[in-house]
Amino acid sequence: MSNYCIIGASSGIGLSTAQKLIQAGHQVFSTYFNNKKDLDLSTSNFHYLNVLDENLNFDFLPEILDGLIYCPGSINLRPFERIKPSDFIADYELQVVGAIKVIQVLLPRLKRSEIASIVLFSTLAVQTGLPYHAQVSASKGAIEGLTKALAAEYAPKIRVNCIAPSLTDTPLAQSLLNTEQKREANALRHPLKRIGTPEDIANLAEFLISEKSCWITGQILHIDGGLSAIKV
Ligand SMILES: NC(=O)c1ccc[n+]([C@@H]2O[C@H](COP(=O)([O-])OP(=O)(O)OC[C@H]3O[C@@H](n4cnc5c(N)ncnc54)[C@H](OP(=O)(O)O)[C@@H]3O)[C@@H](O)[C@H]2O)c1
Repeated sequence: MSNYCIIGASSGIGLSTAQKLIQAGHQVFSTYFNNKKDLDLSTSNFHYLNVLDENLNFDFLPEILDGLIYCPGSINLRPFERIKPSDFIADYELQVVGAIKVIQVLLPRLKRSEIASIVLFSTLAVQTGLPYHAQVSASKGAIEGLTKALAAEYAPKIRVNCIAPSLTDTPLAQSLLNTEQKREANALRHPLKRIGTPEDIANLAEFLISEKSCWITGQILHIDGGLSAIKV
């Protein structure tokens, strides 16, 4: 049994990953921001956390942490000319500075583990240019750089990997999936002819946080129904 911390486990991919890890018998310490969902509280500690706060309180965590998954993110799609510099900064604060602050506070706990692993999230839209994705791509590009830098700096003690999904059916993506036409058009864009489910991505997160992936670090893993890799 390992000790894992999931930042943002009240929704989408984080929620699905927490459920899988709890089912597998691990101790999962989870956080929520706006929505407190009913995870099984007998096996999961669930705590409020806003990563935008200056001081982050992690008193609820044990002294040894085997893995950290950072889920908070955004998908603000707009023409580049309409995105204000302050929008880029707000996005960067949530996606990048938030991850940096959390990792820095939790490093001592991760260093005490023999199997520590960090999982971050990027997006397909970093390696594959897509219109109207400038805001999210700028932040997630930084996450990919951070992944590689930290993987190098903390090898062999802590592994750091990043998952880059395409469109996945979570509350975050609802504005892109809120009609049948949008769902179908988005499914057809992918070579595997469907959009992602939270479980698709959680399966990879569960693998990367576990010892089963112990010879993988510094990787950006694309999970996107083939969209970044093949033409059919
Ligand atoms: N869904 C997609 O299509 C897609 C595609 C590419 C990449 N991604 C990336 O995958 C990751 C997970 O996405 P998702 O779709 O699962 O998102 P989601 O359903 O919106 O879940 C995000 C989680 O982060 C928490 N959160 C949000 N703001 C926070 C804050 N200020 N402080 C602390 N926690 C906060 C949310 O808490 P509350 O719900 O309690 O507010 C929620 O638990 C994100 O980094 C996203 O950018 C998603």
